[in-house]
Amino acid sequence: MPGSYLPQDKFFKKAKEQGYRARSVFKLEELQNKHHLIRPGDKVLDLGAAPGSFMQYIQKIVGKEGLVIGLDLTPIKPFSQPNAKTYVADIFDDKAYDKILKENNVRKFDVVTSDLAPATSGIKFVDAGRSFDLNCQVLKVAEKYLRTGGNLVIKAFPGADHGQLIAKARALFTKVQMAKPEAVRNTSREEYLVGLGKRG
Ligand SMILES: C[S@@+](CC[C@H](N)C(=O)[O-])C[C@H]1O[C@@H](n2cnc3c(N)ncnc32)[C@H](O)[C@@H]1O
Repeated sequence: MPGSYLPQDKFFKKAKEQGYRARSVFKLEELQNKHHLIRPGDKVLDLGAAPGSFMQYIQKIVGKEGLVIGLDLTPIKPFSQPNAKTYVADIFDDKAYDKILKENNVRKFDVVTSDLAPATSGIKFVDAGRSFDLNCQVLKVAEKYLRTGGNLVIKAFPGADHGQLIAKARALFTKVQMAKPEAVRNTSREEYLVGLGKRG
């Protein structure tokens, strides 16, 4: 998001040069290069997608046969490509998912990505708790709408509940790893949880 950019940051400059809407894209790019989470033809649900840099990147990987659907409380500037669709919704609104699946003729997603960030208070344990609540909902969404064998990426702010989040993810995925991509600022506590191969 423009407000979170540091003018001198190399990932900010790179995002501008490459036409991405945010520098966050390079976190996903690093995870994708390592884990090959997303494949051509995949249907991907991106939670907390505004302004849309993850979507720009995913849209290129999935290609014409695939689809990326971005959902956020904040409107996402529409894409000209038909394989990238945007919705304004709260991730806790269960009705939104039924509408999305129906309108796009999707039964299950191949990948769920989440870069959700709670409104921050500046108080570490409060923010970690808010992030945990968001991420528990992301795991519920993955449990319901991600296909067996599918992959997941979640942004997390590790706090007291972090072990619980990892345990929940391990119950759902055959392999779970935490990562701190280079594009995460040194001052940020943010990490990414990668879940590979959803259990059947
Ligand atoms: C860091 S930004 C995402 C950046 C995005 N990945 C990109 O590449 O452009 C986090 C987003 O989470 C969204 N968000 C936070 N809580 C939400 C909720 N309950 N439902 C939907 N979106 C939410 C915010 O509105 C914000 O746009």
